Amino acid sequence: MIRKRAAVLISGRGSNMTALIEAASADNYPAAIALVVSNRPNAPGLERARDAGIPTAVVDHVRFGEDRAAFERALDAILRDHRIDIVCLAGFMRLLSPWFVTRWSGRMLNVHPALLPQFKGLHTHRRALAAGAKLHGATVHFVVPEMDAGPIVEQESIAVREGDTEATLAARVLEIEHRIYPRALQALAEGKIGAAAPTGKAES
Ligand code: GAR
Repeated sequence: MIRKRAAVLISGRGSNMTALIEAASADNYPAAIALVVSNRPNAPGLERARDAGIPTAVVDHVRFGEDRAAFERALDAILRDHRIDIVCLAGFMRLLSPWFVTRWSGRMLNVHPALLPQFKGLHTHRRALAAGAKLHGATVHFVVPEMDAGPIVEQESIAVREGDTEATLAARVLEIEHRIYPRALQALAEGKIGAAAPTGKAES
């Protein structure tokens, strides 16, 4: 089996990255985690990736100042150097420009801690509680230029419980993320989704 070469982009802890690495360690998984890239040099996930024997790279956005195009060109160059087929954003906390997103169109996934299209953006658990949501969850979707708006690949929900806090909700949603992200990457790597998927209005 020829596996697709996936890169995981992180900014922090990297628990979704770890879930992807673990899934990809199975013999019959159709993708290999070939690279982990962080925009933060001290992201704890980098150490976890190295421990797992995965090549890592840092593209520190701070060093590029306001020049987002240069940051993204550097990121893109590293992905191409490593012959990456699929990009998985996993807690990667930088917005990507239409230029970058279009280059990876149909080949880039993101995990978001909410039931999209509800609660795009940050602080999703806090906002779900404040809104009195009965259901909450996580989504894996294709990345399109509009934030958190691409076609949904996987989604699972949980019931919000009486007494839930941001932290308890985050913990249960994270379990979902770790389950659905490997499934989504598998589907993309097997060609079951992707090529024919709509990739958003800014692509046309
Ligand atoms: C995850 O909950 C992920 O869904 C979220 O950041 C966390 C990263 O955790 N991403 C976003 O909020 C993106 N908008 P991890 O580093 O342990 O995977």
